[in-house]
Amino acid sequence: MARKPGLKDLKQTLASLPGFVVLEYLYSRNDDSPVAPGKTSEHKYKELVGLFHQTMDESAAVEIVTGVRELPFTTLFSIAEMIVYSIVKDEDIFASVMSPEYAGPYLPSHCMNVAFVSCRAGMGMELSFRELTELCVAALLHDIGMTKIHPAYYEHDRALSEEERKDVESHPELGHHFLQKLEKDFPWLLRVILEEHQRPGEAGYPVVAEEKPHIYSRIVGVCDSFEALTHNRSFRKAYHPGDAMKVIIDGKVSMYDREVLRALIDTIGIFPVGSLVQLNTNNIASVIRSVEGSPLRPVVQIVDSDKAAAGVGSRVIDLSKEKSMFITGLVYDERYYIPDQAQSF
Ligand SMILES: [Fe+2]
Ligand SMILES: [Fe+2]
Repeated sequence: MARKPGLKDLKQTLASLPGFVVLEYLYSRNDDSPVAPGKTSEHKYKELVGLFHQTMDESAAVEIVTGVRELPFTTLFSIAEMIVYSIVKDEDIFASVMSPEYAGPYLPSHCMNVAFVSCRAGMGMELSFRELTELCVAALLHDIGMTKIHPAYYEHDRALSEEERKDVESHPELGHHFLQKLEKDFPWLLRVILEEHQRPGEAGYPVVAEEKPHIYSRIVGVCDSFEALTHNRSFRKAYHPGDAMKVIIDGKVSMYDREVLRALIDTIGIFPVGSLVQLNTNNIASVIRSVEGSPLRPVVQIVDSDKAAAGVGSRVIDLSKEKSMFITGLVYDERYYIPDQAQSF
């Protein structure tokens, strides 16, 4: 029986596509590109967030003057291609995506992160380069309706009133209405904006008499929740990525699309990149790479300081190969919300 292509195969296929080769040629010769070689992964990530923020701000400023909102799709598709490109070429960029602190203002940073996480899950679902690019554009714009709501409602540090909550929950319809004239050219985008908070069964909002949500909507829906849990908000600290994955898998399993969940676990693992974990050897380690097909055994780097001083601190261990070692629990620092029952595995 033919082997199902793995993430590595899919990355290789993507990297050999003519469109991808052209991107590589362009970025490798342009030092100003946000994803030019020579920049650190963190720098590349921050430049992408900055470019997206600036692009959306400029289009909002034009709207104030002209009364018409024209979205700069050429730039948005370029940013989306750079996200796909970064994921294929630079595994380390995902550590910046998973940092609990936002790299810029909430809305553009959140949307950028959802695009990165969605793209990883989309690769696990074997989407093509074109589909991944569309998925990223849709993820970048999934919360466009929020720009029509007062920021105090989504940057609050208190419980929202019933009326305020209803306002926030109207953002899919506001966004859909706002971009309605694009329906003919970008039907998938309009569907994601309307459907991203719909969940299997009767859960989610708004309830739309429609067939199963679009595949992009289902991917963005799961990745939106995962991203929200793993980042600090004004009203609570971030969940440790390992806890966030547990919340998504265990607590609300019926709420999420199972096919997408499986792809997310396959491509990100139970201990996503950036997670600090405890090993059975009592070492503390940082997850630096996921291993496809081995969600409980990622590649880790020992980080505890006394071991580092002794010269073994930077040791990298592939737990999928080093079978005598395994993860026994999560390690929390002050950046994280600690659940009542700290998790062990
Ligand atoms: Fe949303
Ligand atoms: Fe969102």
